[in-house]
Parts: sequence; structure tokens; C-alpha cells
Amino acid sequence: MGRADKVVLAYSGGVDTSVCIPYLKEEWGVKEVITLAADLGQGEELGPIKEKALTSGASVSLVADAKAQFIRDYAFPSIQANALYENRYPLSTALARPLIAKLLVDAAAEYGADAVAHGCTGKGNDQVRFDVSIAALNPSLKVLAPAREWGMSREQTIAYGEKFGIPSPVKKSSPYSIDRNLLGRSIEAGPLEDPWTEPLEEIYAMTRAIADTPDEPDYVEIDFVKGIPVSLNGTALDPLALVDALNDMVGKHGVGRIDMVENRLVGIKSREIYEAPALLVLIQAHRDLESLTLTADVSHYKRGIEETYSQMIYNGLWYSPLKGALDAFIAQTQEQVSGTVRVKLFKGTASMVGRKSENSLYTPDLATYGEDDVFDHKAAEGFIYVWGLPTRVWSEKIRG
Ligand code: ARG
Repeated sequence: MGRADKVVLAYSGGVDTSVCIPYLKEEWGVKEVITLAADLGQGEELGPIKEKALTSGASVSLVADAKAQFIRDYAFPSIQANALYENRYPLSTALARPLIAKLLVDAAAEYGADAVAHGCTGKGNDQVRFDVSIAALNPSLKVLAPAREWGMSREQTIAYGEKFGIPSPVKKSSPYSIDRNLLGRSIEAGPLEDPWTEPLEEIYAMTRAIADTPDEPDYVEIDFVKGIPVSLNGTALDPLALVDALNDMVGKHGVGRIDMVENRLVGIKSREIYEAPALLVLIQAHRDLESLTLTADVSHYKRGIEETYSQMIYNGLWYSPLKGALDAFIAQTQEQVSGTVRVKLFKGTASMVGRKSENSLYTPDLATYGEDDVFDHKAAEGFIYVWGLPTRVWSEKIRG
């Protein structure tokens, strides 16, 4: 008896996921492996990948163009939540996992598979995101993770693949482990494992080195409707085109790099380099527009929600009831978050230099220090008396 009859495998075309195909069949008695490659804008040709799965022993090789869905249903809600894990990482890799899980679960239903599989090892966050998302979407599906159990080194994996006609990587494989999609690139391992070592310029692909950035700034005006970015410099763009165009504009000025040591869910600290030009600027611009359109209490309360929301995305809980409840809170807050933010891009920095909105709560005659001032200065005195009363009483009675 095998572990499953028919399996849908998340497929990237790399050696590890390719080796999963014969491994599932030979070692785990799976009768049929269907592969699914999700196109999330990783900038690779998926035609050869489709072919490769078939020569590696897959019975069906699916390619799903999920780019638009990725931006609309995963990136945009995350921008509305200003989601930054540990205040820095905009979750570009993490956001892709619940979508891939959904594609796997849907394909399993369509092809009558009794299991899905992925090539994650046991040390990362991605295995958690896949397993938990799949369980949330269809708890009766088995999840197989060969690379978590096979215990083969890189060399052994390549040798195993060669027995089944899977070619070993042609070019000398890079020391880095890189995950890429439309939203960004995540780079780890190799020399980066030493947190004291500065990353080499060669690891970046979406952002220019400061030395190569223009000597004049660029300005970009981003329009938001209910917290969703809809146009750049007055030109309406669909979600995919908007992110694509903004990645170029922002990356050109060397904006969007992050170098951090982060805490993985499985308890390991890891040094990660990210570049996520458009996503980072969209979050900054969105947060800036909120400062104009949300009341102080909603804005302050939302910061706590954002922290939880970011952790939930990072920790694989995209399809969980708490996440759904927080989505409802965030959606409600976004009703007034429409308007325009003006961003200046220059030498590695994105500065928010202007913002406007029809729903602006900014009130010039309250804020001004000029003659038009309508603020009742006398009222401040009484307010401060009451506000400070507990502190005054404490000081008199206790502090002495
Ligand atoms: N640490 C990041 C995360 O958990 C990115 C991991 C991406 N994988 C990679 N091979 N660099 O979301």
C-alpha cells in the first residue's frame, strides 16, 4: 500500500521538486503524480518546466497563471493591512504560499487526487504555510513532503534524480537560495549565513546599486481607492500592470532592499535579504494616506491589528478564522482611504512628500498657527486639568 494513489505536487522545475516525482512513485508507492507550476511572475519560462515534469515522470503537468489573482487577492489585502513582519519584511514570499496551496487543493478536486505534495524541507516557514493552508481548505487531503523525510544531501538528491533521467543542474549552482515572484525576491544561504557579511551586489536583480541610480529624483503619484492602489501618475492600471510598472520605477532608484535577521516560526533565526520595491513603497504610501483619512483611535488601534495580521501571514494562518475576522475590521477601516500620495524616489530612499484626499480629516483652520486659527485655546486649559488630574493626585499623595 502506497501513501497515496494520486498526488498533485507543487512544482518549480528545480532539482528538488523534480526528484520528488520519481521519489513519490518509487519509494512511497504513489501511482500517479500530477505537477502544478504556479506562475506568480518568477520571470522564468514555464514551457520548459511543463516539459521537464513530464520527462521526470509526471502524468499531467499543469501550469497555472495566477499572477493577477496573486496581486488582487493576496498582495492588496496585505497592503491594506500595512503588513510588515517584524516591522520590516513585506511578506513577498509568505503571501504566495496560501495561493499555491489553494491551486493545489483545487487541482486535487478536479483530478480526483487523494493527496497533495510539496518539496519543502523541515526547517523553513513554507512547509508550515502549505500544510496549514491545505488543512484549512480541505482537511481530508493528505499532505506529502518527501524532502522533509528523505534525508538526502544535495549531492545524493542529484544522484537520485540522475537514475531517473533528471539532469543535474548545468550551471554551477549558486550558493544562494532564492525565491522570486512579482512582489519580490528573498535571498538566503551561502555567504549570507554570516550575519556580519555584507551582501554582494550580485545577489540583487530588482533594485539598482546606489552608484548606478539616476542623479535626479523621480516623482510618482499613487492613487488609492478604499486602500487599493489603482493608478500611477494619473494612469489607471490593472493590479498586475501597476505592480510591474512600480517595481521598475522604484527599483531604478535603488529603493526596496532589506537586510535582516528574522525569527522563523520553527525557532531558527535566519539572515534574509529581500528586495520588494513596489510592495514596500505601496505600503509606505498607503500608511501615509491613512494618516490623513483615519481618525486617531482607528489608526492607533489598527497598528495592533497590523502586527497580528503580519504574524498570521508569516506563520501560515492565512485561511484561519481570526484572519477572516481581522479582514473584516480592515475592510471597514478602508472605506475612507481614498486619495493620492506623492512619492519622491532618490538614491535608495522613497519619501512621501505629499498626500491629498476628498476624505481628508486634516483641518487647516484647526492646525494653523496663523490668523485663521479657530481652535479654542481656553478649552485646552480645562482639558489639561482633567487629563492630568490622576497624575497630580498621585504626585501629591504618593510621590510627595
Ligand atoms: N524567510 C522568508 C519567509 O519565510 C523567505 C523564505 C524564502 N525562501 C528562500 N529560499 N529564500 O517568508
